[in-house]
Formats: sequence, structure tokens, C-alpha cells
Amino acid sequence: MRIGVLTSGGDCPGLDAAIRAVARRLSGEYDFDVLGIKNGFKGLVEGDIEPLNRYSVSGILPKGGTILGTSRRTVEELRPDLPVIQGNIKRHEIDAIIVIGSVDEVAVSSMLFENGINTVCIPATIDNNIYGTERTFGFDTAVSIATDAIDRLHSTADSHNRVMVVELMGGSCGWIATMAGLAGGADCILIPEVDFSLQEVAELIKKRHLQKSFSIIVAAEGIKEMLSQTEKQLARSRFVADHIADYLEQKTGMEARTIILGHVQRGGSPTSYDRILATRYGVKAADMVAEKKFGSMAALKGTDIVDIPTIEVAGKVRRVDAGLYDLASVFFG
Ligand code: F6P
Repeated sequence: MRIGVLTSGGDCPGLDAAIRAVARRLSGEYDFDVLGIKNGFKGLVEGDIEPLNRYSVSGILPKGGTILGTSRRTVEELRPDLPVIQGNIKRHEIDAIIVIGSVDEVAVSSMLFENGINTVCIPATIDNNIYGTERTFGFDTAVSIATDAIDRLHSTADSHNRVMVVELMGGSCGWIATMAGLAGGADCILIPEVDFSLQEVAELIKKRHLQKSFSIIVAAEGIKEMLSQTEKQLARSRFVADHIADYLEQKTGMEARTIILGHVQRGGSPTSYDRILATRYGVKAADMVAEKKFGSMAALKGTDIVDIPTIEVAGKVRRVDAGLYDLASVFFG
């Protein structure tokens, strides 16, 4: 068999570990030919495809980013290219494609499978928001980076008696903010899954400052959608943290600063947890291909890696559990 592999969507630490695992398992255990499709679905459309083998994936386990490159394509954007994709798959004699990516990629894989293309999906994103799996790889590394940033902000916040507003990634969900806020001891965490009022945050800070000189507020980027229309217009920046800091300065009289961690959360070497999870997913995906379990995704359930049909998870997003947020909120104020 000839199997294509591609990485698509926002990159994350662990992609190379997954590519390595896929290539090693497919070529070693099954003696299949492995083809690397460059720059996500863009490469599938453009026919930008090259052979991979155990030697071309050697040394990439600890690397950040993806040796294959990536791009973003939604189902709607890709649907018109279906005939070209089918043509390229035929030309390169590809029997199945392993898609390593996030929420959009699960949906695209499902759509391709419905159109006669054999796909197997591996869940990869720092956001941890793919429905049907308990962990995506990349998330643990992003949480470690964000936790380290929050740790470091404590001393400078304390020295200057400031409010620090840390904005973390997460698209439409607050997984990184909740977990890094919990691990870093944030004084308040704002996420899209939980309603909040900035007035209450200001009150919390005022009360806290009767005893403590500083506060660390962690905000998920996705809460911008929760601001009122007027608040959105008033916001001087596209970053929600700037808006929160302005508001808190006015209401508490304290000096505030913003920290946008941004793509730092997506860069660099994966943690050992992410390397192992990516490797487990890669080996499982290769086995799923050998077993012809197409139209499915590798997923973490408890301590096991299982396979689930993409049709059951496509178009859905996994949001932060209320219990986890409640735990973090025990330490607010
Ligand atoms: O990979 C997911 C994500 O990290 C989101 O949290 C974020 O909104 C988005 O990517 C931003 O990525 P880019 O700037 O590459 O579009």
C-alpha cells in the first residue's frame, strides 16, 4: 500500500514526533510506502508530494513545528478542489491519507471519506478542543510554556504593585488558560465557557489588594466574543487583554500591564508527555490504516488509544469541563 501523511492547521509541538511514528510504523511493521504531502491540503491540491522513509524522519522526535509544513483549509474551501485532489491521489497511487490536525482537519477528513478517499485522523492542537479525545498533543507543551510565563510574572507584578493580564491562546475554548492558570496560581481566569463580568473582576482585585500588592489575571483569547458590542468598539486593541487592563486600571486605580503570549505557546520542542502521546497516536493511526479502519480518528480514552468514527466528532468542539474550572476558581482572589 502507498500511504500519504500530511499536517494541517495551526502547528503544534509534537507534529514531527507523530510523522516519525507514522513513517516508522508503516514502513517498518507493514512494509508500506510512505509519502509526505507538503503544506497540508494545499500540497494535496498542488500535487506537492515526496517519499518519506525511516531515514528521512530520523532525528526529528524532539523538534517543534512540522517537517512537512502546514496550511489552513476548511471543508468549504476544499470542496471545490475535490476533483483535483482525487486526480492527484490516483496519479500518486495513494491508498489512504493520514491527516494530522485539529478541529477543521477532522471535518475535512470526514468530508474526504464521504467522497471516497480513505482517511485516518490524528488529533493535534495546542488548544485541546477536539471532540472525542481527552488530550490532543501540543497542549501539554503550551500549558508548560504558559505556566512558566505566569510564574515569572509573579515577581515583577509584586515588585511594581501591578495587575498583570495574561492573554493565552485557545480559539473558542479556555483549556490552556484554565490549566496554566491553575498550575500558575492565577488570581482570576476568564474563559469563553464561563460567563463573567469585568465589574466583578475589578471588585475581586480591590478586595485582594487590601492584603496583597499585585494580581495575575489569565484570559483566554476567545473571551473577546463575549464582550458587548460597545465594549468591542471601545477596545483599543485587537487583543482582549488590553481591553481588560484598561478597564481594571480605571476601576481599581491600580497600574495594569498586558502580556500576549501568542505563538510562543506553539513553538519549540515538545514536552516528553507530548512526544509520547504523538508517538502513540502515530503508531495507532498506522495500525488503523493496516486494519482498513478508514473514516476514523485515533483518540485518547482514559489511558488507552482507541479509534472513533470522524462522522461522530466532525463539526464539534470540546469545551472545558465545569468541574475543572470550579477547581481553579477555588484559588481566585
Ligand atoms: O492552533 C490553534 C491556535 O493556536 C488558536 O488558539 C489561535 O487562535 C490560532 O491558532 C492562531 O493561529 P494563526 O495565527 O496561525 O492563525
